[in-house]
Amino acid sequence: MSDRIIPIIDLRALNTASAPLAPSSNDSDGTKANGVLSDTLHRPLHDLRISVTDRCNFRCVYCMPRQIFNKNYAFLPHPSLLTFEEITRAAKLFAAHGVHKIRLTGGEPLLRKDLHKLVGMLSNIRTPAGTPLDLTLTTNGALLAKKAQLLKDAGLNRVTVSLDALDDGIFKRMNDANFSASDILHGLDAAHKAGLEPIKINMVVKAGMNDQQIIPMARHFKGSPFILRFIEYMDVGNSNGWNLNEVMPSRDVIKLISGSAPDMQLIPADSNTDIANIINNNINEATAQRWKYRDGSGEIGVISSVTQTFCHTCSRLRLSTEGKLYTCLFASAGHDMRQWLRNGTADEQISDMIAQLWHQRSDRYSELRSSQTTRPDKIEMSYIGG
Ligand code: GTP
Ligand code: 5AD
Ligand code: SF4
Ligand code: SF4
Repeated sequence: MSDRIIPIIDLRALNTASAPLAPSSNDSDGTKANGVLSDTLHRPLHDLRISVTDRCNFRCVYCMPRQIFNKNYAFLPHPSLLTFEEITRAAKLFAAHGVHKIRLTGGEPLLRKDLHKLVGMLSNIRTPAGTPLDLTLTTNGALLAKKAQLLKDAGLNRVTVSLDALDDGIFKRMNDANFSASDILHGLDAAHKAGLEPIKINMVVKAGMNDQQIIPMARHFKGSPFILRFIEYMDVGNSNGWNLNEVMPSRDVIKLISGSAPDMQLIPADSNTDIANIINNNINEATAQRWKYRDGSGEIGVISSVTQTFCHTCSRLRLSTEGKLYTCLFASAGHDMRQWLRNGTADEQISDMIAQLWHQRSDRYSELRSSQTTRPDKIEMSYIGG
């Protein structure tokens, strides 16, 4: 039996209103939606992650452990969820402030009824320069075979699919919901056929659980149209019982793959800048460091959120399922955007509050995380959106 202590407070139910929004200090250009916002660490706002549901058909051990997310867990009631119209209105205001990438997440976003309709609405939004947004989705892939073409037709650009193992025994232990790797591989094929590219695969590495799948996964996807990324297991939320000993540093992942066979040798990719950043002329705001196979057969990525943090370039804002804004994945308090959207507040005022929120932002949790400890009051990833 595990002896770890699991806090049972539901942070969503607490009055977690964060500090009131103070008037903007640099508001000569700040409170107007002119596509340039900068926080206290001079980071722009470029990337909005929208959680469309807090539910999931998986119970990944590192995200929604079954002993907490069971039949007694109170998921959000439907009226709490932002409607598609509310999400689209919010997204337009963010686009005017410089957001050019929107990622739909959850929970499992494909569980949200008629998600393709939301995709269609978001795909009509333009940046101040008149270009479409980079519209993407993170999914566990189980429903992708059924929905890939519909999503593509609605205007989705690309998808990222989570897959933690090829071996069914290990995969089922990770997802704790009896899904087979073949279910996800079918989803990946459907996404490829539909042209939802570039398609990335996220593998969270939990040492002692799926690390023996690193080489088989790398081998399987080498030379394929899919970009595999290894993610360091993080202390998001409070329920996964995170322990530093279960984090496998990305440098060990690279060494392991490179040393596994002569044709698996990796070298840093020429430019560690993501394609979206190249297009948008940004400094590198990507989460992943890119490595390529020396023999030219493709690349992989590593996301070192524990051992090599990337807060200094973090341009991400999160909108939770019930419309709270979080300026950090590890935040404990959000700003209630839903009330602004539902109480008749004018677009200009909401826009002004977004600017103030970003100007006040100073988050850099991962950089400050002490090596062994983790704060006990963080919001769950399934609620805030990965
Ligand atoms: P691209 O748009 O393709 O560059 O994707 P991305 O890497 O920005 O997004 P994705 O959702 O695929 O992120 C991959 C993983 O990185 C997530 O599942 C998280 O584990 C981690 N991650 C994403 N954003 C953050 C962040 O802001 N902070 C931290 N610490 N980790 C993050
Ligand atoms: N650590 C690292 N990544 C995580 N994800 C979920 N929980 C964690 C965690 N504790 C990843 C999933 C998915 C994305 C939404 O977030 O694998 O790819
Ligand atoms: Fe669901 Fe994704 Fe969390 Fe797994 S990581 S439980 S698939 S939301
Ligand atoms: Fe951004 Fe917070 Fe993640 Fe740092 S820890 S990269 S500030 S979301």
